[in-house]
Amino acid sequence: MNGWTTPGPTAALDERMQALEDAADAAMLAPSVHGSQPWTLVLHRDRIELRADRSRQLRSLDAPGRELTLSLGAALLNIRVALAARGWAVDVARFPEPADPDRAAVVRPGPGAPETGLPQLAGAVEERRTNRRGFLDEEVPDELLAHLGAVAAAEDAVLVPVLSDEHRRLVARLTREADALQADDPTCIADRARWRATHSAPGNRTSEPDRFTVDSESGQDRTFVVLATRADDPLAWLRAGEALERVLLTVHRLGWRASPMSQVIEVPTTRAALRSALSWEDHPQVLVRLGYAAGAIAPRRLRHDVVRNSLRPPGAAVRDGGRSLARTPGGAGPRPVSDGRGGTTWT
Ligand SMILES: Cc1cc2nc3c(=O)[nH]c(=O)nc-3n(C[C@H](O)[C@H](O)[C@H](O)COP(=O)(O)O)c2cc1C
Repeated sequence: MNGWTTPGPTAALDERMQALEDAADAAMLAPSVHGSQPWTLVLHRDRIELRADRSRQLRSLDAPGRELTLSLGAALLNIRVALAARGWAVDVARFPEPADPDRAAVVRPGPGAPETGLPQLAGAVEERRTNRRGFLDEEVPDELLAHLGAVAAAEDAVLVPVLSDEHRRLVARLTREADALQADDPTCIADRARWRATHSAPGNRTSEPDRFTVDSESGQDRTFVVLATRADDPLAWLRAGEALERVLLTVHRLGWRASPMSQVIEVPTTRAALRSALSWEDHPQVLVRLGYAAGAIAPRRLRHDVVRNSLRPPGAAVRDGGRSLARTPGGAGPRPVSDGRGGTTWT
């Protein structure tokens, strides 16, 4: 039983329902590990539920579901941004039912002041994407890093800039090590192959993931930050995902670009080495490369596959700065092209 009564035409939707429908659209635009979009969004008259879609979990690369939960956190942040942009205060319950751990969050819009700092990120929700091109040789200013530190702290996460040459070399070495270990691990190879097959299902096109490796020994032109959390449990992972997306949206809004990089954190030994060198008592959750570059579009799953109880007509597109990302099967959409480094980008 859901909260809706008889479905009516789009025009009849009241303001709260419109806001919840927009929140679902915003959630669908969140970044996710391997572009897996491991979520289902359930709309009710007074709330939106964000649920894990375990069929989209990377079984060996992400057996505990840490990165799945980070991705859900990113979607949750987008929901909060969309509702704040429409002027709603929100009540957010994270993992409200221990007996139902896939129910990651329930968000209820209500009267009151919208969350500060979020409405201005709404434009970036539609425009942000993972940078899949080279970063230009432009240094990220210290003021931006300090600002991003405050942004992450607002979501209970710690942002640790990788500043010294020594630490940059360490990040480069650990990332290469993690890459090599994963490349030799048959379960990781099988996981990726299975995931690629899922990607290529008709009507279910998503970004073919590529993964940056850190190829610079000097690292002078590269800025990395590590997002870390005090705890290392599902709630901390969800909060880390919210922090990640808030940082990514802020970066985009300020004209910079970013690429999350997670190999080094997926492999326990390299994660432990990163932790002891950089974040100490805090647990690294994701490494992010920052810089200046142009972006490309990664397509999204079809809206009617993801959003339950919607009153919007099938085929309604998730907005993307005027471009449709959620398209009907066979429709003309962004096309994958080689990025020249063994991965794929979208044009
Ligand atoms: C938790 C998490 C980990 C990610 N890890 C990587 C990574 O290691 N390498 C990479 O190239 N992209 C990574 N990404 C970015 C996703 O591949 C990207 O969000 C997805 O393909 C959708 O594209 P978009 O961000 O351009 O919308 C990660 C994203 C998340 C949320």
